[in-house]
Amino acid sequence: MKHFLDINRLSVEDIQLLIEKALLFKREGNFPKYESQIVAQLFYENSTRTRVSFELAAKQLGMKVINLDVNHSSESKGELIEDTLAAMGIHFFVIRHHQNYMQEDLAKTLSAYDIHIVNAGDGTHAHPSQAILDLMTIMEDKPNLRDLKIAIVGNIKHSRVANSFQNISAKMGVGELVLVAPKIWQPEQIHYGRVTSDLEEGIRDADVIISLRVQNERLVASEQLDMSRYRGQFALTEGTLKLAKADAIVMHPGPLNRGIEIDSSVADGPHSRILTQVQNGVFVRMAILDSLVR
Ligand code: CP
Repeated sequence: MKHFLDINRLSVEDIQLLIEKALLFKREGNFPKYESQIVAQLFYENSTRTRVSFELAAKQLGMKVINLDVNHSSESKGELIEDTLAAMGIHFFVIRHHQNYMQEDLAKTLSAYDIHIVNAGDGTHAHPSQAILDLMTIMEDKPNLRDLKIAIVGNIKHSRVANSFQNISAKMGVGELVLVAPKIWQPEQIHYGRVTSDLEEGIRDADVIISLRVQNERLVASEQLDMSRYRGQFALTEGTLKLAKADAIVMHPGPLNRGIEIDSSVADGPHSRILTQVQNGVFVRMAILDSLVR
């Protein structure tokens, strides 16, 4: 693997190996060291979890990390990497960008360079490291993916998390995937699963519920919803959670809008695996960097 760009570029075996490696790192707690390797983080969009977990992952592997203040750079992404950072001997570029396919385009432009590009989220298109950490978190509780009903609830249309999760579910054989969203937040095309605007039907007897953040910054005027109405119809509360299986787990990629898409009593309750997702995020990103360096 030269770059880490999209779930669709990974084989079933690649995904299994990444999850096995992340589980091994989590279990054993001793890690290989790659002290000569340098990682640059270029985040053109806000991030807390992804940025910090890639930084922690790199440091746990003995790598050096540079966080670039990209929003104040006068150079384009290509120039910045090609003329400056690659020449300085930086090996990894962990990039988040608002433009779909930006990292894939950059990987093509810079194909002659001996560098690794890691997609930390591009627009509404993909968030592949999130999909792997989500699957790892599910498999720790419920390893038989073919037997599961998984529901994702929220703004599916604008969610790179939902996109990448559909792709990983298709690839790894999740039994049933239900995408629950109000009509105006339903995508025109889906990659896997089925769509409904009926929360009760969508989460009934679910094994896993993934709640998504209401992304106000991505909504155009025609997609605006009254938040108290959205909450009334789609929020994950202790009441709606009762529709799922008794041992269902609840996940959320963060950041959470508590009291809108999810109640604190659910986010902090016994079914929640939200903190496990954050913890697993570091191990999955270690596995990604480790697989690229080899
Ligand atoms: N899950 C996720 O991508 O969170 P951040 O935006 O904080 O990185």
